[in-house]
Amino acid sequence: MDHLTSRGILMRMIFIGPPGAGKGTQAARLIDHYKIPHISTGDMFRAAVKEGTPMGREADRYMKAGQLVPDEVTIGLVRERFAQADTKVGFMLDGFPRTLPQAEALAEALTQDGVKLDVVLLLEVPDELIVERIVGRRTDPETGTIYHMTFNPPPAELADRLTHRKDDTEEAVRQRLDAYHNMTAPIVPYYESAGLLKRVNGVGAPDEVTAAIRAALG
Ligand code: AP5
Ligand code: MG
Repeated sequence: MDHLTSRGILMRMIFIGPPGAGKGTQAARLIDHYKIPHISTGDMFRAAVKEGTPMGREADRYMKAGQLVPDEVTIGLVRERFAQADTKVGFMLDGFPRTLPQAEALAEALTQDGVKLDVVLLLEVPDELIVERIVGRRTDPETGTIYHMTFNPPPAELADRLTHRKDDTEEAVRQRLDAYHNMTAPIVPYYESAGLLKRVNGVGAPDEVTAAIRAALG
């Protein structure tokens, strides 16, 4: 039995896209509309790193180097998150799945729960635009708001508290792009053949991208 959100919309969706494509920026805008939890495995790993848990220490080694955290760790993390009741009203997965085994594990978990994905949204941004987006990113640790020093400058009074991700170096982002093309891109045809994939151009002002996503979601 499906549960509807407070707006009467049920949405189970996945955001795929290269590092810096704007997944986090757009997810923050969309969850206001859909009233569903935003599940970012990157954010969950960063929280575990900050807490200094054993899983966080393990994930940190991979993240700093721009490599993917091993599937068994990541799948376990998402399984635990899906055990929480708020996911029953839908979800917006950001950065998961990123490998074929992760996509297969998700399919198995959803089948067990008797639910289906509504859409997989691929945010497309060419590699040559990614490095600038990543290196200029800053995050407000208190609100989670994502800024960019050029494209979305933070208010001056926040400047002192903003953080720069450890993996937002040019060197790490090149590794992250390699991981995306080698490990994550293969899940695109997987979802395309299931008829779930929608491609959205992630180039343009954030408001234009939001409008394109809303149009694609219908
Ligand atoms: P994760 O946190 O998921 O990072 P990512 O996929 O590399 O994506 P980002 O968060 O860097 O980018 P984004 O698309 O969210 O862009 P944003 O909106 O911030 O993963 C980090 C690491 O964790 C991985 O490398 C891996 O080690 C590990 N991990 C996570 N999930 C995993 C998994 N499933 N399996 C294994 N390992 C996993 O925007 C970026 C910047 O661009 C910002 O400054 C923003 O202001 C700016 N911007 C946004 N939109 C626009 C626009 N339209 N125009 C101009 N600038 C824009
Ligand atoms: Mg993100």
